[in-house]
Amino acid sequence: MSKLSLDRILQSQGFGTRKYCRALIEDGDVAVNGDIVDNYKLSVETDGLVLTVFDEEWVYRERVYIALYKPANFECSRKPSHHPGVLTLLPEQFGWRDVQPVGRLDHDTTGLLLMSDDGPFIHAQSSPKRHVPKVYQATTAEPVTPELVAQLLDGVQLHDEPAPLRAVSCVARGDKGIEIVLEQGKYHQVKRMLAAAGNHCSALHRSAIGGLTLESLGIKEGEWCFLEQAQLDLLVPST
Ligand code: URA
Repeated sequence: MSKLSLDRILQSQGFGTRKYCRALIEDGDVAVNGDIVDNYKLSVETDGLVLTVFDEEWVYRERVYIALYKPANFECSRKPSHHPGVLTLLPEQFGWRDVQPVGRLDHDTTGLLLMSDDGPFIHAQSSPKRHVPKVYQATTAEPVTPELVAQLLDGVQLHDEPAPLRAVSCVARGDKGIEIVLEQGKYHQVKRMLAAAGNHCSALHRSAIGGLTLESLGIKEGEWCFLEQAQLDLLVPST
């Protein structure tokens, strides 16, 4: 149980500055569990709270955990330079509450991207010590040979890495397709591993992180959804 003043609550949910949130409340644009409240100082229980702002319902969440089906041509960086940022695919509130990607996908990679405003969660999920398997489908420029699969499983040396990096699993999918499971998240890792093994990645898609699959989430390209605890529990290391 925790109570906060209504202006603080609105601000925490990403509706804007404290001043703006106070004005919204005083203008009668905010309802608390269905009743309009125009006193921004009112102390409100956040547990189970449903706000209505401009006639739109908003369930209070102390922190948000989001799965986005990232399309190509969006950047994960905080200051995107050549393409729009992934935050532009989410409601504006998430930018105000500092939602960030958990790790990164390249601008041309599609698939499952986690996002959150929970700093410790982002940190823990991105830690190199946390070996959560990530499943990628790559399309290659050259045919996928048994030798390529064997090389990726044995480990390939990337020029700035102290030791060879290996795939946890690797399966050919048709002539120029390969499913690669990695436990690390090094910069351009799939593309660089394929290049180091003598092929070239022409398209890349991430279909799962741990036991959380895009398919199970049922979201389409460009769509997002909140993740609940049972889904977060699937983001577990393999060992
Ligand atoms: N590996 C890559 O090369 N790119 C990505 O976006 C993700 C993994």
